[in-house]
Amino acid sequence: MYCVRKVKDDLYWVGGNDRHITLFENIHPVPRGISYNSYILLDEKNILLDTVDWSIASQFIQNIEEVLKDKELDYMIVNHVEPDHSGCIEEIINRYPNIKIICTQKAHMFMEQFGFCINDKIIEVKDGDEMSFGKHKLRFLTAPMVHWPEAMVTYDTINGVLFSADAFGTFISLDGKLFNDEINFEKEWIDEARRYYANIVGKYGINVQTLLKKVSNLDVKCICPLHGPVWHNNLNYFIDKYDKWSKYEAEEKGVLIAYGTMYGNTESAANCLATKLVEKGINNIVMYDVSRTHVSYLISETFKYSHIVLACATYNLNIYPPMLNYLLDMKELNLQKRTFGIIENGTWASKAGKLMRDLLNEMKDMVVLDEDVSLKTVLKQEEVNCIEKLADSIISSMN
Ligand code: FEO
Repeated sequence: MYCVRKVKDDLYWVGGNDRHITLFENIHPVPRGISYNSYILLDEKNILLDTVDWSIASQFIQNIEEVLKDKELDYMIVNHVEPDHSGCIEEIINRYPNIKIICTQKAHMFMEQFGFCINDKIIEVKDGDEMSFGKHKLRFLTAPMVHWPEAMVTYDTINGVLFSADAFGTFISLDGKLFNDEINFEKEWIDEARRYYANIVGKYGINVQTLLKKVSNLDVKCICPLHGPVWHNNLNYFIDKYDKWSKYEAEEKGVLIAYGTMYGNTESAANCLATKLVEKGINNIVMYDVSRTHVSYLISETFKYSHIVLACATYNLNIYPPMLNYLLDMKELNLQKRTFGIIENGTWASKAGKLMRDLLNEMKDMVVLDEDVSLKTVLKQEEVNCIEKLADSIISSMN
């Protein structure tokens, strides 16, 4: 059975939800599912904007048929070729063989690489090109590396709708609710929106900034992303989040304590630091066991908080592997502008502290506080003083 929503006059959401998926991109847990958004714009010529993942193809086709009724599908705009959006391109071509595909030159190349049979159908567009389809005139704006190099966004110059591809997307399936004011985004969605941004697009802050500048010159009234809710009011709330995230600026002054512990002794030191911080008036603290927390959540929280404490056991004369994985991901995603404290532990050869400091020094604008804490197995009374000094140093660096 079809399941569509009207977005605006002439414009319909024809996407769907995937609640069976466990790992997005086979990496990131999505316990609350994800939506794949697709839109149809009805005009003198009818346009499909992106397709969906193959997993929801049946729903997608029923949605398209319901909106089109007996009308022809004339064009398909491909803003992004990643398979969560291109998975049904060939199915659409099979069903609507006269369709033309509008995309960037690089998207054309990628579709060829995927093996799609798109011969004679491609209309390549460049940054700023416009096309009229009747009442609606669409402008195509390239958005390289948001999230792949071929990506573009499409702006309807008539009604101010921006089809933003992966930008402004989020994890979480849409439970009948499509618009931002049908959900409590700030309470129930923002953490998953941040986790989506940080892990999918977070590496490409410069490119997101470029796109935000392009978009700032437009009179955008509605944002239709490829995942998550459609924004038809309060746009600046989410645009401001994207601006902050893409500049790698922390959202909150607070302390994320990430600890890698084998038998609980390093965790004990992390608990001691958290307690000292709270006793000194810092309540905005979160703690995560890196062995029990998927790295995508750690990365997301690292985008959120200003200060991070890494408390880590030494393992095979190296950084405890889940902590190393977290740090390498942080470096890979180009994270910047955070202040770090370090607690290391080792029964015979503590190495984790120096190695973590070295890795952080390879990243951009990361400040590592001088007050390292080095433990030999269990936290002792004299080392509590060192933890107290680290707490004081964290607090003074917040001011
Ligand atoms: Fe939602 Fe980069 O694909």
